[in-house]
Amino acid sequence: MSQRRCLSIILAAGEGTRMKSALPKVLHPLAGLPLVAHAVNAARNGGDVDVALVVGHGGEAVRHAVLPFAPEAEVFIQEQRLGTAHAVLAAREKIARGYDDILVMFGDTPLVETEALDALRAGIAGGAAVAVMGFRAPDPTGYGRLIEKDGALVAIREEREASAVERRIDFCNGGIMAIAGDRTLALLDAVGNANAKGEFYLTDIVEIATSQGLNVVATTAPYESVLGINTRVELAEAEAIWQRRRRRALMLAGVSMTAPDTVQLCHDTQIAQDVTIEPNVVFGPGVRVASGARIRAFSHLEGASVAENAEIGPYARLRPGSQIGESAKVGNFCEVKNAVVDSGAKVNHLSYIGDAHIGAKANIGAGTITCNYDGFLKHHTEIGAGAFIGSNSSLVAPVTIHDGGYVASGSVITRDVPADALAFGRARQENKEGLGKTLRDKLAAEKAAKARK
Ligand code: UD1
Ligand code: CA
Repeated sequence: MSQRRCLSIILAAGEGTRMKSALPKVLHPLAGLPLVAHAVNAARNGGDVDVALVVGHGGEAVRHAVLPFAPEAEVFIQEQRLGTAHAVLAAREKIARGYDDILVMFGDTPLVETEALDALRAGIAGGAAVAVMGFRAPDPTGYGRLIEKDGALVAIREEREASAVERRIDFCNGGIMAIAGDRTLALLDAVGNANAKGEFYLTDIVEIATSQGLNVVATTAPYESVLGINTRVELAEAEAIWQRRRRRALMLAGVSMTAPDTVQLCHDTQIAQDVTIEPNVVFGPGVRVASGARIRAFSHLEGASVAENAEIGPYARLRPGSQIGESAKVGNFCEVKNAVVDSGAKVNHLSYIGDAHIGAKANIGAGTITCNYDGFLKHHTEIGAGAFIGSNSSLVAPVTIHDGGYVASGSVITRDVPADALAFGRARQENKEGLGKTLRDKLAAEKAAKARK
C-alpha cells in the first residue's frame, strides 16, 4: 500500500452520552490509550497515511489527546451533527488536496486491524470506487445491511429504512470504508437526507456509485474489528478482546504466561523472548522487560525497565523511573520508584527504594527505607557497589553509602558512610543482670492488686 497516498478521516463527533461520563467517549482509555488513538495508530501503521480528525463542537480535548500520536493530524469541526456523510465533508478541503485512497474510520472503533484496512484499500487499488468493511453480525439489529445483487454490493440499507426481508440479512456494514480519492467529493455531494433520521448517510454512496456504473466491493472482517464502543460495558468487552489478542501475540513471540487471562498489559508493553510472567501481573504504561527476566505473581509495574534475567516479585511494585539491572532481584512487598538498581543487586523484602541508585551486587536488607522526602523536597540516596544495608535501616537522604560500606541493622543513617566502613546508627545495647526478673515480679504484683479491688 505504501505507494498510494491515503487520507484517513476519523469521525469522532459523537456525544457519547451512553458512557455516562464527563470525558468525551473517544478519550476513554483502552489498554491505557484513548480509543481514538487506537484508530489513528491502525491507520498510520498502513504506511504513508495522513490523518484528519472530525470532532464536534468543543472538540479541543479530543484534539489534544490525539496530537501526541499524530502530531501532523489536522482537526476539522463538524458544527452540527447531520450524519456520517456530512461529517466526512467537514474535511472537504483536505480531501480536495488529492489522495488515492480516502479511508473513513470511527473514533469509537478501536479494534480494527491494519490488515483489514489494507484489504479495503486493495479494493480501491483494484478499481473499485467504494470498498466497504462488512462483517457477519451475530445480531444484526441496528447495523446497516449490505444488499448484494449477482455477487456485487449494490446498496447499504440502514435499519430504519430496511424492509422485513432486508432486516434478515446478517452481512452488515462495519462502518469503515475506503473511497477512491478522485471520486469522494462527487459521491458525498450527491448524498441527500430524505430518510427516517433526516441525516446525510455516508452509506448512501454505495447506491449512488452503483447507479453511476461504478464498482463497489465488500470485504469481510472479523466482528471484533468493527466493534464500536457506546457504553462502559462494551468498553470492558473491547478491553478483554484487546488483552487476549496482545497476550496471544506475546506468547507466540516467545513469552511464557502461566495464567494468561490474569495478566493485564498496556498498549506499549514490551516483553522480550523467554520472559516468564506469573499470574496476576499488571503492566501500566511504559514497561520494558528484557529476555530471561521473570515477573512473579501479583506484581505491578509502570514506567519501568527490567534487564536480562532479573527477577521481580512476587508482590513487587515498580513505579516510574525504575531501572532494574541484569540478574537483579526485587522481592516481595518492595516498592521501587525513580531508582536504578544495578546488576546483581538484591532488594528482597519489604523495602522502599525511591530516588536512589543501588550499585552492582549491593544487598539491601529487609525493611530498608530510603527516606527521600522531607515534606518539601525529594532527595537522592546513593548506595555503592557491594554495599550491605542491614535490615530495618532508614537511609535519610541526601546520603551516600560508598562502595562496600556496611550498615548495621536498625540504623538510622544521616551521614555518608565511607567505602568499606561499618556504620552503626543506633543506640548501643546494654544488658542489666537480673533486671528482667525484677520488672516481671513488679508487674505481676500490680496486676494481682488490681484484680483484688
Ligand atoms: C453507522 C452506519 C451503519 C453501520 C454502523 C456500524 C451510517 C449512516 N450508518 O451507523 O451502516 O452498520 O455505523 O457501527 O453511516 N458521526 C459524526 N458526525 C455525525 C454522525 C456520526 O462524527 O454527524 C460519527 C460518530 O461519532 C460515530 C460514527 O460517526 O463515530 C458513526 O455514527 P453513528 O451515528 O453511531 O452511526 P450508526 O447509526 O451506528
Ligand atoms: Ca454507532
